[in-house]
Amino acid sequence: MNTIELEKHVNSPDSSKFEGTTAVFFPIDEQWGVKLFRCEETRDLSYNRHTTLYDMGLAPMYGPKNTLVYDGETWYGYLCEIVECCDTAVLDHYGVEHDGKCQGGDYFELCSYDSYSDFLMENEKWGTADVELRGRLEEEGIRFTDTHAGNWGIRKNGQPVLIDFDKGLYGVDI
Ligand SMILES: Nc1ncnc2c1ncn2[C@@H]1O[C@H](COP(=O)(O)OP(=O)(O)OP(=O)(O)O)[C@@H](O)[C@H]1O
Ligand SMILES: [Mg+2]
Repeated sequence: MNTIELEKHVNSPDSSKFEGTTAVFFPIDEQWGVKLFRCEETRDLSYNRHTTLYDMGLAPMYGPKNTLVYDGETWYGYLCEIVECCDTAVLDHYGVEHDGKCQGGDYFELCSYDSYSDFLMENEKWGTADVELRGRLEEEGIRFTDTHAGNWGIRKNGQPVLIDFDKGLYGVDI
């Protein structure tokens, strides 16, 4: 997909999107999505950390950077492999309907605190992946403090990975 097609995709009311506090993520097809940031420096920081963590097996695949107009403003992005994100599993577990807004309502309550810990204790797949991811981060000397369920996921190959690199990440040499 070239930049013009991407721009069309992100501005279409029919496209699904996941909004965090800094970034917005649009799935494009089965494998790829585009993550957009308002600020070029934040995009570059995230991209640099993403590529470094990919080499360690701690991030999904990534693609080229792009600059495009979304909702009448310039945004800075890059392509990113879609992973099965833990927030979706948490919300499904608690029977919460979700429309892609990763904030507000019950989202942070369920995805960050006691309910999230309970979910990890009760769900073998995600509990095991969480332990594996923490272990791998420790092996690499990386500390990640932005540890809510919307910031990590599992790749199609089973690898647990981080997906949010703009804050709360320490020990990555960039
Ligand atoms: N590679 C991905 N695969 C699947 N979903 C993703 C991916 N990257 C982001 N998302 C979805 O988009 C949301 C927002 O992305 P991201 O966490 O990068 O943004 P953010 O604004 O930095 O988030 P935060 O609110 O944690 O600060 C994620 O919580 C997740 O639901
Ligand atoms: Mg996030």
